Amino acid sequence: MIGLLRYPQGLARFFAHAAFLRPDLKVLDAGCGTGAVTLALHTALAGRGWQPTHVDAFDLTPSMLSRFRHALHRAAIAGVELAVADVRHLDTLPVAWQDYDLIVSSAMLEYLPKAALPAALQGLRQRLRPDGTLVVFISRRSAFMVPFITKWWHARLYGKTELRAAFQQAGYRNVAFERFPFPYSYLNVWGHVVVARP
Ligand SMILES: C[S@@+](CC[C@H](N)C(=O)[O-])C[C@H]1O[C@@H](n2cnc3c(N)ncnc32)[C@H](O)[C@@H]1O
Repeated sequence: MIGLLRYPQGLARFFAHAAFLRPDLKVLDAGCGTGAVTLALHTALAGRGWQPTHVDAFDLTPSMLSRFRHALHRAAIAGVELAVADVRHLDTLPVAWQDYDLIVSSAMLEYLPKAALPAALQGLRQRLRPDGTLVVFISRRSAFMVPFITKWWHARLYGKTELRAAFQQAGYRNVAFERFPFPYSYLNVWGHVVVARP
């Protein structure tokens, strides 16, 4: 599905233009699945001749991580550590998984009950450096998305106001809504791109 929508290419184009990108970032991919965001980030960094220093990534589902491991092997990308974890229980992550310059999370937080979103965002904030950035890609509330996201994915849809409130409740002072750039603008129908700083 994400291949059909060219979501990985849209992510890579978004990161290629991102002001927060720089060499030697320490990155966490939260709810990484098969690694679409980490791989897109690598593409965008490589386009500028850069590499992240290190990427850690976790997901609730071990089978997603093994598919991600194969993708990393195929792409000959080293330096990515993977762990099984629930975003609601980040205390199970290895102790060194702290002080990130960049935390990314795509199409995962909508699987939580809405009441659990602020605490999950807060847990991620606690792993960011004070000058770090959190980027969240999350499903947008619209009548068009109900059959796909609510009925098919069994996930939640969010409006801007409730998202801003959840980020503020979680202690983010700087919350900006950005967009997928052309020619991937159609991905904005699916989701919000939230860029937040503590
Ligand atoms: C739609 S996939 C998105 C995967 C990937 N981030 C992407 O953009 O392609 C959702 C992922 O979130 C993971 N997930 C769901 N609930 C989670 C939780 N509470 N903690 C961590 N991962 C979770 C699932 O296992 C799944 O891999």
